[in-house]
Amino acid sequence: MANTKSIHGEWSSRFAYILAATGSAVGLGNIWKFPYITGENGGGAFVLVYLACVLAIGIPIMIAETMMGRRGRQSPINTLTTLSAEAGAHKSWHYLGWMGVIAGMLILSYYSVIAGWANAYVFKAIFGGFSADAVEVKATFDDFIASPMQLVFWHTLFMIATMSVVMRGVKGGLEKAVQLLMPTLLGLLILLVAYAMSTGEAYFQGLAFLFSPDFSEIDGDAILTAMGHAFFTLGLGMGAIMVYGSYLPSGVSIVKTSLYIAGADTIVALLAGIAIFPLVFANGLEPGSGPGLIFQTLPIAFGNMTGGWLFGILFFVLLVFAALTSSISLIEPVVAWLVENKGYSRVKASVMSGVATWAVGVTVALSFNEWSDFTIFGKTIFNFLDYLTANLMLPIGGFCIAVFAAWIMHDKHVRAELDIPEQQYMLWKYLASYVAPAAVFLVFLQVLGVL
Ligand code: TRP
Repeated sequence: MANTKSIHGEWSSRFAYILAATGSAVGLGNIWKFPYITGENGGGAFVLVYLACVLAIGIPIMIAETMMGRRGRQSPINTLTTLSAEAGAHKSWHYLGWMGVIAGMLILSYYSVIAGWANAYVFKAIFGGFSADAVEVKATFDDFIASPMQLVFWHTLFMIATMSVVMRGVKGGLEKAVQLLMPTLLGLLILLVAYAMSTGEAYFQGLAFLFSPDFSEIDGDAILTAMGHAFFTLGLGMGAIMVYGSYLPSGVSIVKTSLYIAGADTIVALLAGIAIFPLVFANGLEPGSGPGLIFQTLPIAFGNMTGGWLFGILFFVLLVFAALTSSISLIEPVVAWLVENKGYSRVKASVMSGVATWAVGVTVALSFNEWSDFTIFGKTIFNFLDYLTANLMLPIGGFCIAVFAAWIMHDKHVRAELDIPEQQYMLWKYLASYVAPAAVFLVFLQVLGVL
C-alpha cells in the first residue's frame, strides 16, 4: 500500500463521507434526468431494468471503485499506477484513470449547463412566481432555452461556484453544505409527492406509468440508457467515487456505506418520478418531452399550491445545491492529479480544469439554440456528449474497474480493504468477477446488433 492517508486530506468521519458520497450520487441525475429518460423510454419496464442494473452492476462496482480508491490513496490515475504495480500488472491500466478524467470533464460541461437552468429558475420563482397554467409554463421554458446569452450566463455562474468549492478542498465547504442540504431536499420532495397525490386520478396514472412494466416499450437502446443511467446516478465509472474513497479513513466499512448511498440515491429518484408523472398526466403533457420535463411540470405544481412561491424558490435552490455537491466530484479527479503530478496549488489546478470544462459547456449551451442544427452522429452536442459519457464511457470504465478489482488485484489486498465476512465477500466477488462485467458486455453486444 502506498500511503495510509491521502495528501489531500481525509473526511472527518464516516458520516461526513456518507454525506459527501451521497451528495455526489444525488443530483440532477435523480431529479432531472431520471424522470425525463423514463418518460422517453416508456416508463415501468425501463425503471425495472434500471433498478436491476443498480443492484447487479452498480452496487458491486461502487464497492470495487471505492475500495480501489482507499487502497491507492491518490487521484484515480496515480491510484491505478500504484495498484497495478502492487498487483504486478501492466502499468497501462492507468489510462483507465485518464478516460475517467476526460469523462468527468465532459459530463460536467453539460451538467453545469443544466444546473444553470435550475439556478435561473430560482430567480424566475422569486421574481415572477410560477404560473399555474401548463401552456404558459412551457412557453417560459421554451423562451428561456432559446436564449444563448442566458444559458451561457447561468452556466458560467455554476462553473464558478463549482470551482470555488473545489479550490477549498474536500473538507472545506463541502462537508458542511451537504449536511443541511440532503435532509431538506428529501423533505421538499416528500411535499411534492403529497401534492402529486392531490391530482386524483392522474396520481394513479403516474404510478402506473412508473411501476407497471410493459416490455414492448423497450429496445436495446433503452436498456443501454437504463444501464448507463445506473452508472450516472450513482456516480460510477470515472473515478469520482474512487477519489472520494481515497479520502476515506481506514476502518470505515465500504460495503455498508455503499449500500446506504445506493439506497438513498434510488429513493430520491423514485420520489422524483412519483412527484412528476402525476403532474405530467394531470396537465396533458407528453412524458417523452425530453430534458425540459421537470422545468415544464414542477412550476405548475408550485403555481397551484398554497405557499408555492416559497416552496418553488426553496426547491430550485436545493436542486442547485444538489447539483453542486455532484459537480465537485466530477472534477476532483483531474484537480487531484494536477496537484499530485504538476505540483500546482489547488487554486491553480481548479482554475485550469474549470476553464477547459467551461469552454466545452458553452458549446453545449449553444446546442439548445443557435447550434441546434449542428449534429454529431445525428445528435446535438448536448445529446452526443450525454450519450458518449453516460452510455459508453461510464459502462466501459465500470467494466474495467470490476475486472481490475476482481481479476487483477490480489485477493488478500481486496479482503484487507473490504474486511467483510466470507459469504459476503464471495457474493461481491462473484458479482464483480462475472455478473457485472458480463451484463455490461451483453448490453453492448445487443446494441451493436450482435445478439
Ligand atoms: N450522480 C450525479 C447525479 O446523479 C452526477 C455525478 C456525480 C456523476 N459524479 C459523477 C455521474 C460521476 C457520473 C460519474 O446527478
